[in-house]
Amino acid sequence: MIFTQYFDQASSSYSYLIGSRPTGMAAIIDPVQGHENDYLNCLSQHDLKLAFALDTHTHTDHVTAMGALRDRTACITVMSEYSKAHGVSRRVKDKEIIEFDDIKIIALYTPGHTNESLSYLMTDRVFTGDTLLIGGTGRTDFQYGNSYAQYDSLFNKLLTLPDETLVYPAHDYHGNTVSTIGAERANNPRLKVADAEQYAALMASLNLPNPILADVALPLNPSYGQRTGNYPVPKQNFDYQNQASATTHSKHHGDSEQKGEGQ
Ligand SMILES: [Fe+2]
Repeated sequence: MIFTQYFDQASSSYSYLIGSRPTGMAAIIDPVQGHENDYLNCLSQHDLKLAFALDTHTHTDHVTAMGALRDRTACITVMSEYSKAHGVSRRVKDKEIIEFDDIKIIALYTPGHTNESLSYLMTDRVFTGDTLLIGGTGRTDFQYGNSYAQYDSLFNKLLTLPDETLVYPAHDYHGNTVSTIGAERANNPRLKVADAEQYAALMASLNLPNPILADVALPLNPSYGQRTGNYPVPKQNFDYQNQASATTHSKHHGDSEQKGEGQ
């Protein structure tokens, strides 16, 4: 298996490319607009064809690259059956399997951060989106978030996986790249709660700032990052490669650590 982790510095987002043999098919999870050439260069270097682009949920802090990748590679785009995004080729249900070569990616419905959030499970690893982060969990205060649903997704779904299962989240704000289910169970402070009531109270007390790029990403992501449909053109013309812009925007929200939607 070919496995590459990508980091978008402006939104502290992770994307993951998974390739396989013998057919040379590949999938990418949570791709970020502006990095398409990086992904396509990697695919080319390994003689891979992008078969699937999967989003764990509709992001608020960056624009998805799924639409651009679909246009450039004719890949199948995948989201939850509950997603409101336009142009999704395949809307998957809980436990539905995306399969190519010897790769099996099982969609797990893990609502709470949003009402459409999926995690994607492989044999030895799980891509947790903004449901379970390394040392944290995704915020539940907008996008139809629900702390009780997230408690259920965390404790009754993700934490039932074997301890050694690798955890690859959609964000990290502290330089972590990977964890395990066992390490999160042991060390994640958000998981040190007695019950769903205590978890909901903890999440309600966070008082988080708006995610950076929310006013750019939210109008664009339902149309897969393309300025089509009935969504307004965003006010900012944001340059993902321009860190000065990112810093300015972050300060606008009064958050020097550039924390965003996945807290
Ligand atoms: Fe998110």
